Amino acid sequence: MDNPEPRLTLDAVTKKFGGVVACEDISIQFPSNKIAGLIGPNGAGKTTLFNLITGVYKVSSGSIQLDGVDIKNLKPNQIVELGITRTFQNNRLFKNLSLMENVLIAIDKHSSRLGLPSYLVSTKAVRVLEQESKDAAVEYLRLVGLAEHKDKRADSLPYGLQRRLEIARALALQPRILLLDEPAAGMNPEESRVLAELIYEIQQRFNLTVLLIEHHMDLVMKLCEYIYVMNFGRLIAEGTPAEVQSNQLVLEAYLGKKDYASN
Ligand SMILES: Nc1ncnc2c1ncn2[C@@H]1O[C@H](COP(=O)(O)OP(=O)(O)OP(=O)(O)O)[C@@H](O)[C@H]1O
Ligand SMILES: [Mg+2]
Repeated sequence: MDNPEPRLTLDAVTKKFGGVVACEDISIQFPSNKIAGLIGPNGAGKTTLFNLITGVYKVSSGSIQLDGVDIKNLKPNQIVELGITRTFQNNRLFKNLSLMENVLIAIDKHSSRLGLPSYLVSTKAVRVLEQESKDAAVEYLRLVGLAEHKDKRADSLPYGLQRRLEIARALALQPRILLLDEPAAGMNPEESRVLAELIYEIQQRFNLTVLLIEHHMDLVMKLCEYIYVMNFGRLIAEGTPAEVQSNQLVLEAYLGKKDYASN
């Protein structure tokens, strides 16, 4: 896929909820077409940062730029259109719809903004487009290893597979930048290892910029070329996995936190 390097930059981003400063003065230029990690203890502000990037929350101050254009006042759907898609910490699948339908909704969202108004398209053409959408949906499901389950209801899948479905849906929106919020949460080490392979394959195949929030440190250290560490709303360290692992501030932030071990 043609995927020119997206430049996602945060400049002095701050988000306050009343008296709580969830993110404070965060400046980051994310590496393009690579997998970067965002880690930190519970409540550090990681998900809030994703919510700011994807327009779910408005920044209190600072700016968020994509390819030099400020996107901080855009709505979530406009940000999707610019090529930033995500999965959520608590999945937001349409639980009573089939896997296929879950992915089709994303495909239709994407293609409706590219295609002609439906009244200009013949019935036959609509059927062809529908078939193309279905084929594409199966392809995304195949990519995440779920094609054989395509007609099952989303909530009939075990939790780990639901997380894969979320990834398929985010991919169907054809991102340049994919944000994954704890995709391995609740997975055992083997499931988490297989997921790491999937994320790597997807990144390579679509030449994506991936930002990954995770508490599974083995997965983060293996997958990410570069890692950002937050604590109490602030960016306390960044660097390669080796640099971050030996950083004193990082060790202190995690000291005594059981989630530092792979859980
Ligand atoms: N909508 C909100 N209203 C009020 N406070 C919020 C809101 N969203 C987040 N916060 C607060 O902001 C801080 C950061 O929360 P956030 O969810 O970003 O942390 P996190 O790093 O993702 O943690 P975890 O690893 O547990 O998911 C917390 O103190 C949280 O209570
Ligand atoms: Mg979170």
